[in-house]
Amino acid sequence: MSFRLGVWLLLALLALPAAAGERVPVPQPQRGQGEACVADTEYMRRFHGDELKRQRDQTLRLGIRGGKFALSGCLDCHAVRGADAKPVDYDDPRHFCQSCHGFAAVRIDCFDCHSAKPEQTAGRSK
Ligand code: HEC
Ligand code: HEC
Ligand code: HEC
Repeated sequence: MSFRLGVWLLLALLALPAAAGERVPVPQPQRGQGEACVADTEYMRRFHGDELKRQRDQTLRLGIRGGKFALSGCLDCHAVRGADAKPVDYDDPRHFCQSCHGFAAVRIDCFDCHSAKPEQTAGRSK
């Protein structure tokens, strides 16, 4: 009995990634401000990492600023406030970006340099 249960559990575990689709399962991040994101929501879920890196390269290599995938814009609309009404930082599991990344074990170094809080309330600049 316990052996069969063990095998069943193993099979269920092995089947998980396939059952969840080809992509990492998505948790429920807090909704952003405003009507819509800077691009289609489904597109944002899949390609925000690529777009952010593309935007970064455009700024650093070509000096193009103010694009729609600016990192500061993300934090302005997606700030999550704690009990003290202040925006939480990236090390907080409720932080918009962290709410998914922690779940999906995605590691980014962006916030080593960039503020993870909205510009007006950020303690440090970019
Ligand atoms: C070592 C520090 C550092 C790290 C790490 C870093 N950046 Fe930057 N980033 C900068 C600097 C400096 C600029 C130039 C700022 C400017 O001139 O406006 C910049 C510019 C940008 C820009 C263009 C400005 C804007 O917001 O539109 C984007 C987008 C960006 N970075 C995204 C990222 C992302 C995404 C990551 C993580 C994958 C990342 N950066 C990691 C330092 C860093
Ligand atoms: C003008 C405000 C605004 C800006 C700027 C913005 N977003 Fe959004 N974002 C939203 C809203 C509103 C939604 C929810 C849309 C919906 O439910 O259809 C959203 C949804 C998302 C989602 C999907 C979340 C989910 O529930 O699965 C991701 C990922 C995302 N945004 C990332 C970003 C990133 C990265 C940036 C910066 C490049 C950014 N957003 C900039 C308002 C914004
Ligand atoms: C809906 C869940 C979700 C949200 C919200 C989210 N991310 Fe992500 N992010 C992911 C997943 C999953 C990956 C890895 C797979 C991929 O690239 O799509 C990722 C990848 C990335 C990457 C690329 C990492 C690499 O090494 O290539 C960057 C940069 C990034 N996210 C930045 C952000 C920022 C900044 C925010 C908040 C403004 C954010 N993400 C919000 C789920 C999310």
